[in-house]
Amino acid sequence: MKFKKNVLMAFIGSILFWSANPAFSSDCLQTRKTLKAPLKIYSAENPVKPTPENISAGKALYLKEAKPLACVKCHGEKGDGEGKMAKGMKPPPRDFTCKSMMDKIPDGQLFWIIKNGSKGTGMMPFKKIRDKQIWRLISYIRQFNTGE
Ligand code: HEC
Repeated sequence: MKFKKNVLMAFIGSILFWSANPAFSSDCLQTRKTLKAPLKIYSAENPVKPTPENISAGKALYLKEAKPLACVKCHGEKGDGEGKMAKGMKPPPRDFTCKSMMDKIPDGQLFWIIKNGSKGTGMMPFKKIRDKQIWRLISYIRQFNTGE
């Protein structure tokens, strides 16, 4: 009987550990309505290096320059999806700070959605942004996920 009790305690202990440790918490996971990019694009790596120059070019697009609408309006200054226009939006704008979710979304997927949008949601296509600029945006977006 003693053995069984130990097993039970270990089980309860591990549940408490996993739920209390924010690094393993998946509270921030969102239901993604986005379609999956075609495989070739999905598996493409960001050809742009995350240099300070590229990141600040991405930041300028995110905060101001992107047309028809700057990303910040929905995805928020902190990248948490809490922009001014995000209230009541369904599905909500992607929360780029959610490590457990963002680590599973490859750069190529982000690229494809930025270019083509997600039909039937607030995420519009950004056809006019040049490919290199989109990759710079992605370098900037990845900054929100600091791994903490
Ligand atoms: C009008 C609001 C709005 C604006 C402006 C906007 N987004 Fe979004 N974005 C959304 C919403 C809503 C979703 C979630 C869509 C879904 O789940 O299908 C989303 C999802 C995304 C995703 C997630 C893709 C995936 O597969 O999970 C990325 C990346 C993204 N947006 C990047 C951007 C960038 C970069 C900009 C600016 C160039 C931008 N967004 C501007 C509302 C917006």
